[in-house]
Formats: sequence, structure tokens, C-alpha cells
Amino acid sequence: MQPDCEKLIKELTLEEKAALCSGITSWQTTPIKRLGIPSIYLSDGPHGVRREKQLSGFGNVFAEAYPATCFPPAVTLASSWNRGLARAVGQALAEECLELKVEVLLGPGVNIKRSPLCGRNFEYMSEDPFLAGEMAVEYIEGVQSEGVGVSLKHFAANSQEFRRMTSSSEIDERALREIYLSAFERAVKRAKPYTVMCSYNRVNGTYAAENKRLLKDILRDEWGFDGMVVSDWGAVTDRVEGIRAGMNLQMPTANGVTDREIVKAVKEGKLDEAVLDERVRELIDVIFKCHRNKQAKKGYKADFEAHRKLARHAAAEGAVLLKNDGILPLDKSANIAVVGELAKKLRSQGSGSSRLSPLKETSFIDYLDEIGADYVYAKGYDCLTDETDDRLINEAAESVKGKDAVVFFLGLTDAFESEAFDRKDLFLPRAQLKVLAEVLRYNLNVAVVLTGGSPSDTSYSDKVRAILNVYLTGEAGGEAVYDLLFGDVNPSGKLAETFPLKVEDNPMYKFFDNEIAEYRESVFVGYRYYETAGKAVAFPFGHGLSYTSFEYSELQTDGNKLSEGEGLKVAFNVTNTGDRAGAEVVQVYVKDTESTIFV
Ligand code: GLC
Repeated sequence: MQPDCEKLIKELTLEEKAALCSGITSWQTTPIKRLGIPSIYLSDGPHGVRREKQLSGFGNVFAEAYPATCFPPAVTLASSWNRGLARAVGQALAEECLELKVEVLLGPGVNIKRSPLCGRNFEYMSEDPFLAGEMAVEYIEGVQSEGVGVSLKHFAANSQEFRRMTSSSEIDERALREIYLSAFERAVKRAKPYTVMCSYNRVNGTYAAENKRLLKDILRDEWGFDGMVVSDWGAVTDRVEGIRAGMNLQMPTANGVTDREIVKAVKEGKLDEAVLDERVRELIDVIFKCHRNKQAKKGYKADFEAHRKLARHAAAEGAVLLKNDGILPLDKSANIAVVGELAKKLRSQGSGSSRLSPLKETSFIDYLDEIGADYVYAKGYDCLTDETDDRLINEAAESVKGKDAVVFFLGLTDAFESEAFDRKDLFLPRAQLKVLAEVLRYNLNVAVVLTGGSPSDTSYSDKVRAILNVYLTGEAGGEAVYDLLFGDVNPSGKLAETFPLKVEDNPMYKFFDNEIAEYRESVFVGYRYYETAGKAVAFPFGHGLSYTSFEYSELQTDGNKLSEGEGLKVAFNVTNTGDRAGAEVVQVYVKDTESTIFV
């Protein structure tokens, strides 16, 4: 039963109240045993549970974690445009949280992909706030349906990794509302996340962890958020200001330093204890809710086998067929060569705080061996060093001669993208392209399997017959790629971000990666810019091919005028005109063509 928070607050000493407002370790809140206030465990996320075996120091991303299912990261999940899938993955993640004793899963990340170069794009959903918000709502409802909390992050405008702990996102009000806060608003209002994680950066000059306009005026007062705000790990600059602004929990532990600052501020009359009481009330309400839910599911055992199947399905659903002249799907009896070390070292996830210990990672080669498939493999290049040598190139060239088809694994490696840094360009590892060029001299029947957590240069696209963009696949990537290449699954994913022809075409290219990040492009992010500017792109937002074809017909609407607050019904037929089953993501884009403001 829910404790009497008012009574507890009256009984808590000032020092205990202050202690509650920061963690006791890297991942746990401070218990107040005297009054029966438990500790809860917060853990990354977002695409798998990273519960450390030993409590490490400050968010040590390399500390050993308990194995858990590694689902495809947000970039792939969002490319499925499949709400039900996001919900199912959320629920599965929560089940593993219950078994691993994690009460709050630190995700989803819904920051908007302002630039294709952001090192954490793999952890975010889209360049479009509607899609990001819709997928986040489902993910959150899936996780919280099991009584596990989420932490919607990183609030807000954390659109770059460059100097993320000191940079200031300088954004006009319209872009802030329509683009950078919109997905958070949708998720808060509809899915009611237990927690929101404030970001490291400043927003228009004020650190998010001390930003009253963000954390109180907008998040709580306007949107009705009734959970608690946790800082990103190490994001606190002025703890007392954070209490005033609405930031409940500092993580990781500050070893009592900021607790003492809070006590001192109250004693000196600089912080009203009633404000501290508000933060404590919001915090213990979530702590007790999580604790109660955990108790109700004590001893829960997750079905990891079912989760692996779901990870395989999600990876296939999130893959985007960018180009195909008919070479795909391959015939299972085809005589194929597989080229590229990424076929053996499949990128299942990105690097940084989200990196978990997968239960069982299967690369494409692993899976081919598992099913006893016939193939020839050539390493071609070294993933780690981006180097190649004549022996590897000659071996690759030899391997493709006379083959029906070449499956060439191409893509960004961990050295090219990660949390904590951004890329400087869209280029792929040079060694890989060198091998591709050599392979094409001996066999033109090349299908590229593209991997990586964000857009890359696709200037090779006119030289190859197909490009299957599998992004980051989660642990069952080998099976999923097989399912897609050989047609057991018909690709249905759509890009949730634009692949530009060159990074200079991106409107913020000149203003990205500055400490004072001027969002001069305002609302013109991603396709909103490219469409408005009539700028050609390599592959547009919403693009994705299928092994079948679909025809749209008989478009109807129930009116031709739309006033503010009104809806419009749009109806049409979608017919599968091909020779195999397939799924289609229907998209309707709306624009005010007579707008009085610049759209
Ligand atoms: C990191 C990340 C955040 C993560 C947290 C805990 O720095 O920004 O997403 O949840 O610290 O690891």
C-alpha cells in the first residue's frame, strides 16, 4: 500500500531529505531505513538491460554486466515505424529488468537527429518529432506495463556530443516547441513516464539540470508531469538551483558533498525547505511505486528465448531496403561470396553507456555456419584498423570470381561513431570502399549489407545492385540479415532520417559541433529542410523498398478545409500488386500551404 508521504516528510530530518536527493552509488537511490524508504536501482537501457555485476564507480560503461537480450537500438526500432513492435520490445525489456532487479530502465532516448553526424544518433529515434514521439509512447507503455519505470531522455535539445557537458543549445521558441520538445511532450502526456532524465547541456544558456523553465514551467506545470527528474550522470552544476528548478535526483552519488550544500542553503535561508519537500515528495512517490511493483513480481523469470526471437524479428522489421534492381531476395541455392569482416563482426549495438553484454551475439557468418549453408568468405578489410593489404584485397577478388552474387558488408564501425563524440563527415571506412571497388572489377552482382547507427555516404550506390541498410541489428543480427537476404522476411522498414548526398547539404553543417550551438535552421531539420529547399538527397525520410509492390488508389478526404483543432479523415486503398506477401508503412504528410508564418 502507498505510504503516507506527508507523514514521512514530517518525520524526515533535513539531512535525510538532502540525502534522498542524490544517489548512494552509481545506480542506486539512498534508502532511509529508519523510515522504511527503500532504495531503487536505475540502469541503462535503452535497448537492453545493462545491470553491472559489481557496483562500479561513476557509470563505468566497461564494468562487467549481467548478460541480457541485446535488442536493436532505437535507430533500427524506429525504422520499423511499428508501434506494436516498440511496445513489445519495451515489455520484454521490462521483464528482464524484473529478473535482474532493475526498477528504472534509462531510456528511451528521443533527442531529435539535428545532424547525421551526432555520435549518439544510434540511440535516438528520428529527425521527425512525431515519429520519435509515437514510438516512444509505445516503448514506455510497454516497459511500464510491467511496473518497471523508464527515464525519458535527454531533456532537452541534447543534439550533439561535442562538449555535451558545457555546450548551450541556442534555439528559438518555435523550434524548441515544434521540434526539440515535441516528442517529449507527446510521451509525457500520453505515456506518463515515471522519470525524465535531464541532459548535460545548457538550453539557451541555462543548464538543463537547473533549468526551471524546462523542468517546472513546461514539464510539470504545462504538461502535467508527475514523476521525478533524474540528472544525467554527472550533469549537476548547481545542486541547490536544481532543487529550486525541479530536479529531484542527482546521479551518480555525490558522496554527500551536494547533500551538505542543500542542508547549508536551507539553514542559511537561501533555499525554502518547502521547495525541498516538494522534490522529496515527488521522489519518494516514484521510489515507493517502483518498489511496490518490484515486490509484486518478486522472483520473476524472463523468457530470454522468446526475447531473442523478438530481437530477430525487430532487426528484420527495422531494416530498410534502400536499393534493389531485383538481385534480392537471393535464391538459397545461389553460389555466393560473402565479403567484409563486418559479416563476422556484426555491429549489434553502439558504444557508450548503452552498451550491454548480449546473451548470444550471432553474426551473419555464424548463422550461415549454424545452418550449414554453402558460401565463400573473404575478410577484405580489418574493422578495427580500417586498413587493408594486398593479400586481403586479392583474396576478396578471387573469392567473387564466377559467383552468382556477392554479399558485401559495408558500414561504420565502433571507431567511427559512439557516445561522447560526433563524426566529422559521412564517409565510410576507406579500406572497405577500396575492397568494394576491387570486387566490382570481377563481379557486378553485388548486394551491399549496410551497417552503422547513422547515415553514411552512399556514392557507391550506382555501382551496386542492392543496398540493404540493417543499421545496428541487436544480438540476433545474423539470423535477421539471412531472413531478409533470402526472402524469408520481406523488408518493410522506412528511413526515420534522411540520407543526404553530402553532409554540407545539411542546413546546420556550418553551425554543428560548436560549444554555443546556434540552431539557426530553426524548424528546418531533416526532410523539413530538404523539401522546403528543394534539395536533392541520396535517400529521403520515409523511403524503403519491398520485394513486392504496392499501389495506392481512391484517395478520399472528408472535407477540404481544416480549422485549428479539427481533424481530417483521409482514406485510400493500398493493394499489394506483387507476387509475395509484404508490409507497407503508409505515410500522410500535412502542410499548411497558406500559412501566415514561414513553413
Ligand atoms: C550517460 C548517458 C545517459 C546514461 C547515463 C548512465 O552519460 O548520457 O544516457 O543513461 O550516463 O550511464
